[in-house]
Amino acid sequence: WGLVGHATVGYVAQHYLDGAAKILTSHLLDGVPLANVASWADSFRYTDAGAFSAHLHYIDAHDQVPNKCGVKLERDCPPEGCIVTAIANYWIEVLTGRPVTQTSRILDDKLSKEERANALKFVVHFLGDITQPLHTENLDVGGNTITVTWGGNDAASKTNLHAVWDTKIVETLAGGSTLAAADTLSKSIITDIESGIYKDQKESWTSCGSIKRGTGCPKAWAQDANQFVCTNVLVDGADAVRGQDVSGAYYEKNVPIARQQLAKGGYRLGLWLNAIAKAEQKKC
Ligand code: ADE
Ligand code: ZN
Ligand code: ZN
Repeated sequence: WGLVGHATVGYVAQHYLDGAAKILTSHLLDGVPLANVASWADSFRYTDAGAFSAHLHYIDAHDQVPNKCGVKLERDCPPEGCIVTAIANYWIEVLTGRPVTQTSRILDDKLSKEERANALKFVVHFLGDITQPLHTENLDVGGNTITVTWGGNDAASKTNLHAVWDTKIVETLAGGSTLAAADTLSKSIITDIESGIYKDQKESWTSCGSIKRGTGCPKAWAQDANQFVCTNVLVDGADAVRGQDVSGAYYEKNVPIARQQLAKGGYRLGLWLNAIAKAEQKKC
């Protein structure tokens, strides 16, 4: 997702934090809200220090969409890692090869506060990206090479399907490209989680179980997002969207999926951070 999508996930998650998670996150982030750090990983990946993390934002599932979807870790997650293992193990495994969980990375007292804060910022970001269907598939590099237009035929309207999902659909839905637009969108999403269209689904969003399951939950989440590539994102194949203006009928069909995926990311992140904070309390 782009800035608005990640911030929306951050605002939704913030709403669900319990007391312990509020204390932990605000300590590590010096009081900065989750939404404001949710896109940090997208700047970091383009720095020398952060180059190692560029491929951790996605998993390139290799099934033949739209005829076949599915995520297989052995096949789709390379030894250098992917978003599934990044969430499960995060960066001690990436950097040192030492197998530790993301939870312990955030809680590890031996790490500096900045290192723990960065681990937290990665979790906030990756729980968002793993709900973006095109971050879980391989066809045309996650849609990056499927050129489309958005609302016109001039050069400025030229874009690609990945950017449409990351940014165009979300900004159109939110009515802007700012944190304020994301805040407004998050409020309507929270209402739907509490008492609207997502009320009865939300339990299934976290039904993968405990954060202690290693790759269990992130694998299930990647699988969930990947299904939408076949049922919605590329339902009629890449050639059906290539070169098309996707700001009309395509947008209308897919905006409910994008909104629901952002809701899932935020809700899961809130509950995940509560579980992490609880694990820290037990340690004391
Ligand atoms: N680069 C390669 N595959 C990608 C994907 N699925 N999403 C984003 N960036 C990618
Ligand atoms: Zn993206
Ligand atoms: Zn990302």
